[in-house]
Amino acid sequence: MMRTHTCGELRENDEGKIVVLSGWIKRIREYSKIVFIDLWDRYGMTQVVIDKTLIGDKKIKKESVVQVKGKVRLRESPNPNIKTGKIEVDAEEFNVLSLSEQLPMEIGDPNNTDYTRLKYRFLDMRRDEMQYNIYMRYKITHEISKYFDSQNFIAVETPILAKSTPEGARDYLVPSRINKGKFYALPQSPQLFKQLLMVAGFDRYYQVARCFRDEDLRADRQPEFTQIDMEMSFVDEEDIMAIVEGMMKHVFKNVLNIEIDTPFKRMTYDDAMSLYGSDKPDLRYDLKLNDITEICKGSSFKVLSDAEMVKCIHLPVNVRDVVFSRKDIDKFAEEIKPFGAKGVIYLRFGHEGLEGPMAKHIEDSTKDKLISKFDMQKGDSLFIISGDKKVVERSLGELRRRLASHLNLADDDKFEFVWIVDFPMFEYNDDEKRYVAVHHPFTQPKIKDYDELKDKENCKARAYDIVLNGEELGGGSIRINTVEMQEKVFKEIGLDMEKARQRFGFLLDAFKYGAPPHGGIALGLDRMIAIMLKIKDHDIRETIAFPKMKNAEDPMLEAPSEVDSEQLDELGLGLKLS
Ligand code: AMO
Repeated sequence: MMRTHTCGELRENDEGKIVVLSGWIKRIREYSKIVFIDLWDRYGMTQVVIDKTLIGDKKIKKESVVQVKGKVRLRESPNPNIKTGKIEVDAEEFNVLSLSEQLPMEIGDPNNTDYTRLKYRFLDMRRDEMQYNIYMRYKITHEISKYFDSQNFIAVETPILAKSTPEGARDYLVPSRINKGKFYALPQSPQLFKQLLMVAGFDRYYQVARCFRDEDLRADRQPEFTQIDMEMSFVDEEDIMAIVEGMMKHVFKNVLNIEIDTPFKRMTYDDAMSLYGSDKPDLRYDLKLNDITEICKGSSFKVLSDAEMVKCIHLPVNVRDVVFSRKDIDKFAEEIKPFGAKGVIYLRFGHEGLEGPMAKHIEDSTKDKLISKFDMQKGDSLFIISGDKKVVERSLGELRRRLASHLNLADDDKFEFVWIVDFPMFEYNDDEKRYVAVHHPFTQPKIKDYDELKDKENCKARAYDIVLNGEELGGGSIRINTVEMQEKVFKEIGLDMEKARQRFGFLLDAFKYGAPPHGGIALGLDRMIAIMLKIKDHDIRETIAFPKMKNAEDPMLEAPSEVDSEQLDELGLGLKLS
């Protein structure tokens, strides 16, 4: 028998038992006649005492896999920090099963680079945090499946070799050997398959689905990631939201023993943008955006009076009593530049009234109005941004996020869910010089007649996002289920009928033969785990066994890699590298 117990199992009442343990050596302490070993496996750690004569000329090194047979005895000095801390195993037999070479990195050393950690991921995963994260990922996924099962959903797998439908992110392409010159695409999501499953009559579908998107990577994005994907027939928004809320409640309770209040808050997209400058507001702290355009209209300071919109964040002294330096403000201004703001005006209520780098440009009457509007106390601050509506909201929204992080306002123990509803149906894409669908073009517009579709700036969609602690956890919509509406929406985003047929002919066909009203949602599983486990910066790589680097490389596999010319020949491909 390779082992009778795991390394986390033995307790005081096992005293006297002869046991066999197998595991990794985490620590070696050598004395003149005996050696102490901390023996580890994923269940825990057990102290083993070995007489040196048993070891003989066998080599022992950290991280080697060894097997020990011996008697359980009580420890003279118990270790209260580990579950097996009251006992130790007095070895009678000792075998080295796999001797470890000198390690390429110290496991868990905070100085290890991302590259090294991912190159030796099999070692990195022996860290306690990774063991926990990967186990919890399994637990969370398992509870999600249990919940869906209890609600009559069935899991259906959908193809990985699918079809390129350029819309949204870039596709990963897979060349076909049998059909030379043709390509499959890896699915960005199972969107169209799940809609077809509804047409096929499977009215409650879910899938733990792997998705692939060739996009620029960030902490919350991987080229391949996992969605909890679901779709239902004969439903409206309320049904989908209720199922998702029930799922969250079940998972938080059964995995973390945390009670989540339902129903979740709801906010329209317009309110989210206007109050928080973001369609994924973090509601763990306040710091709303306030409109002060009217107050600023009378100012002689053109930056304020000439702008389409002026908004500010009021930071009361009782939230944080801080004085920001010019350097801090310049840093904020630099960080929000990508959102279009030319700068940020910082005013603090000090001894001389409202003070700050730009305060001298603003006349007393305007300052007085600001003080009175916000009932400002000594030590309160204002952060003001002026410009076009879109620029002001997005820039101040970003500043709100940065400010909260700078001041450490977000409580990690809080889970603030909010549904964002009434998204716009379309948005203008400056690069492509055309309107695109904000969610996706299979989303039902919120309209009474087709004419409303033409007003693309104001047309709303039956789409909803679920946001948790300032992260977009998932998005979904009620779908179009008629050929007529689908064709009209394609037309509005500049997809002529020929192209639409080429790309989505199968969907349009399916809608001809009895397509039930349906809708669904997909939740980013990796993101959900990162937030639930309070992982630093919500870096989803910490939740994935074998993730990719920011440049989409896997340093362990050395993927992507070059391939033999024979392989390319077989596929009928040549490389054109410039
Ligand atoms: P959407 O594109 O909004 O919707 O994706 C749903 C959720 O998936 C997560 N996500 C990602 N997670 C990690 N890395 C990525 N690169 C990445 N991209 C997206 C996010 C996001 O909210 N088919 C629709 C859903 C539907 O309409 O039912 C879809 O894929 O958490």
